[in-house]
Amino acid sequence: MKDAHGRTIDYVRISLTDRCNLRCIYCMPAEGVDQVAHSDILSFDEILKFVRVAAQMGVRRVRLTGGEPLVRKGVVDLVRDLHAIDGIDDISLTTNGILLAQFAPDLKAAGLRRVNISLDSLDPVQYKEITRGGDLDDVLAGIDAALEAGFNPVKVNAVAVRSLNQDYLAFARMSVDRPLHMRFIEYMPVGDSSGVCGHGWGEEDVISCEEIRERINHQAADEDLPQLVPVEGSSKPDGGGPARYWQFPEAQGTVGFISPLSRHFCGECNRLRLTSTGQLRPCLFSDDEFDARAVLREGTEADVHALIEQALGAKPEEHTQGDHANATETNMNVIGG
Ligand code: GTP
Ligand code: 5AD
Ligand code: SF4
Repeated sequence: MKDAHGRTIDYVRISLTDRCNLRCIYCMPAEGVDQVAHSDILSFDEILKFVRVAAQMGVRRVRLTGGEPLVRKGVVDLVRDLHAIDGIDDISLTTNGILLAQFAPDLKAAGLRRVNISLDSLDPVQYKEITRGGDLDDVLAGIDAALEAGFNPVKVNAVAVRSLNQDYLAFARMSVDRPLHMRFIEYMPVGDSSGVCGHGWGEEDVISCEEIRERINHQAADEDLPQLVPVEGSSKPDGGGPARYWQFPEAQGTVGFISPLSRHFCGECNRLRLTSTGQLRPCLFSDDEFDARAVLREGTEADVHALIEQALGAKPEEHTQGDHANATETNMNVIGG
């Protein structure tokens, strides 16, 4: 399946809910989100119908996101049914990890292949602040459970925000003794929440992946540790996303960088997004959307096919990065990252 700019699109990110058991300061309003009527949310049958058509068109990878996907009832059954669809050979989940210890074995048995866990601080007090109440120990237990259940690869995502002064080396060290893939994400101008430290997104809070890597190497040198080296080819962890990978020599895992702002990766974009209310979004940074819900409810599979074609045709060649006025006003908990 090709878009209008010749890119192969084989990855769909599906948000199962815009609700979450955390309230990260850059993602969700403090008071949470209004409950969306149950009837406005796509049912599992509708999601499966969408994925069946997308798979016929060439989609191979499905990622479940949120809000927090594990707060949606029946997610294990959904994974099992997605796994049974011909052509879908990579099902993954992006989660905050709070409920992962509880779900990991059942998700694995149902056919989930891999998990990406969001974790923005390794300091329990700062973690509680960023998530407005989360308990770091729950996430750490979720990471342990993911490795134990045999997910491969297991990735950890930290959004890097300058004024948070996160300890980048402490994160990177997690990749040494266990097969964990620690990724840093540049802070993107998405959503209208009041944001970090109460001043919302600002250029001054963006720290480029290159600077993070330099800081890790610098700190590592101070502690007589080796420098990060690039990881190429088959040594890279499996995935369809835009991360670039580095590694401490001899480490079991890697350190990855996702640079939507400092390095345009739109040329390699391979994905479409489906929100929990069934809106099909051609690009993370655009509020363009196509009403897949209506078509999934009233249309045939051919109608769904036609709508996916339309969304493909609307994928922009690249986003207007850094130009906040043109970024989406929709919060990340709705789009699903
Ligand atoms: P895999 O590589 O398949 O493991 O997945 P991924 O890295 O694409 O998924 P994940 O949910 O872990 O995404 C990590 C971060 O990358 C999130 O903050 C996403 O918003 C960001 N991201 C993923 N895809 C895109 C994209 O197409 N454009 C932009 N700008 N950011 C993206
Ligand atoms: N910039 C970068 N990443 C973000 N995420 C949420 N909001 C932003 C933002 N403004 C991340 C989450 C999670 C992933 C799905 O998206 O932390 O890792
Ligand atoms: Fe694709 Fe839009 Fe992300 Fe660029 S910003 S990589 S076009 S989703």
